[in-house]
Amino acid sequence: MLLPTALLALGASLVSAVPVLEAKDNYFINPKTGNRFQIVGVAYQPGGSAGYDPSRGVDPLSDADVCLRDAAILQVLGVNAIRVYNLNPDLNHDQCASIFNAAGMYMLLDVNSPLVGESLTSFNPWESYYASYLNRTFAVVEAFKNYPNTLAFFSGNEVINNEETGATVPPYSRAVTRDVKNYVKNHCDRPIPVGYSAADVRDVLFDTFNYFQCLEDGKTDDLSHGDIFALNSYSWCGDSSFTKSGYDQLVAGFKGSSVPIFYSEYGCNTPSPRIFTEVGTIYGPEMTDVFSGGIVYEYTQEPNNFGLANISADGSITLLPDWYALKDQFSKLDFTKIQGAKPPSAPAPKAPTCESKLISTKGFNSNFTLPVLPPDAPEIIQKGVSPKPVGKLVSISSWDVKHPVRNPDGSVISGLAVKPLGEDEINAPGTNTVALNSPTPTSGNGTTSATPKNAAGKSATAGISFVLGAIAAVAVAL
Ligand SMILES: *[C@@H]1O[C@H](CO)[C@@H](O)[C@H](O)[C@H]1NC(C)=O
Ligand SMILES: *[C@@H]1O[C@H](CO)[C@@H](O)[C@H](O)[C@H]1NC(C)=O
Ligand SMILES: *[C@@H]1O[C@H](CO)[C@@H](O)[C@H](O)[C@H]1NC(C)=O
Ligand SMILES: *[C@@H]1O[C@H](CO)[C@@H](O)[C@H](O)[C@H]1NC(C)=O
Repeated sequence: MLLPTALLALGASLVSAVPVLEAKDNYFINPKTGNRFQIVGVAYQPGGSAGYDPSRGVDPLSDADVCLRDAAILQVLGVNAIRVYNLNPDLNHDQCASIFNAAGMYMLLDVNSPLVGESLTSFNPWESYYASYLNRTFAVVEAFKNYPNTLAFFSGNEVINNEETGATVPPYSRAVTRDVKNYVKNHCDRPIPVGYSAADVRDVLFDTFNYFQCLEDGKTDDLSHGDIFALNSYSWCGDSSFTKSGYDQLVAGFKGSSVPIFYSEYGCNTPSPRIFTEVGTIYGPEMTDVFSGGIVYEYTQEPNNFGLANISADGSITLLPDWYALKDQFSKLDFTKIQGAKPPSAPAPKAPTCESKLISTKGFNSNFTLPVLPPDAPEIIQKGVSPKPVGKLVSISSWDVKHPVRNPDGSVISGLAVKPLGEDEINAPGTNTVALNSPTPTSGNGTTSATPKNAAGKSATAGISFVLGAIAAVAVAL
């Protein structure tokens, strides 16, 4: 007879998993195929920042039925990754992580939250850099380190968003990257990539990039150097183009990067509904040498009007015109070819050495001597957080979606279920097909004629980029 632990181990090995990806030089690589990986992602925070509430014991990856509903909808949409901003390390995420894994989707996870004591503040960052903040941050790493679909951790999101914060925040934010990487090195059995998600404020964007990607002189294992660099960019609005949107300047600016570059948010919503013509460019020949895809902001409709789907209080959900527009754009692309690209054989670009000449904006911090760990933090890094809220893949008993999911005309989509993928498979458009009623206007009537709305802040952590992105877009357009 098998012992219970042996049974458990056997059960775990029967769950199929996505291939564990690596950040190697300037690209994400699938080591099973040697191919580059392009992120086709959606930001996932049902309920906005209120969807994370420690007092109610909820976060976006804690309710299995909700995750099943959303994983099915996102699988049909064709995405291969979600970004989740606000996580409670002490909740159990096993079912949700297992559902997204089975659906062929990776998770890019922010280790911070907007709550006090759970992130570095833009104002006086030194006041928010202390051991219990780091302990919670490391606990998020513990909670997610064992899922094969954990693709990366964001050590900060838009903490630097103007010249003023560029003067004070960089050493602290780079220190948090160092600390999380140090924790990963000591307590994870693979080098899960860690990096920063920047506001696309062109005044400080490339200084921020250089500050995070440079290597301390003479050090080949400089742990404070980010493994990836991402940006939240809203400069492509409506029927724009590679040059009109300023995407060309981003490609020029990030060319030669030593780490993978991607959009950690995109999808300007003015005008609305969105047409997502940037998708063809992001995954096309003008960008893919430099970028590794992006993450659309965002899955659910919240007051700021960026939603692809609208959740009702009873948990039923209605797909919005933007969902269909995005699906149409994804379906135009040849993802077999896009995900089949090999990295070039030429040696990858090397990170520059950290020195003040890398910084071009007056007043932006050019001191690369980082603050030392706060008291008590070295011991946490050495011994690990206690207790360790470690998660694991579990088997899921049913893949059928339990909540009603509706087309914009109110009709319920029948037979919606997550299609569990086989070992080493990743989701792509066309993997899960289901009959939909497309809202494409045929009579100029009703369903798609949303009036353009202005966006007001997104969430406490992701609020400012839209406004600044719009300013950057105007600046670029001039
Ligand atoms: C550290 O994090 C763990 C996991 O969330 C928690 O249980 C523990 O109380 C924390 N310890 C301190 C000292 O904050
Ligand atoms: C979303 O649903 C709510 C009711 O649950 C409704 O008031 C709102 O108008 C809907 N929004 C959109 C964009 O369909
Ligand atoms: C650079 O930062 C370090 C650590 O905060 C500090 O000790 C040092 O004085 C700073 N150097 C300059 C020139 O400001
Ligand atoms: C528009 O939709 C409304 C409500 O569904 C319907 O009553 C009306 O006949 C439609 N008009 C046209 C021109 O299709």
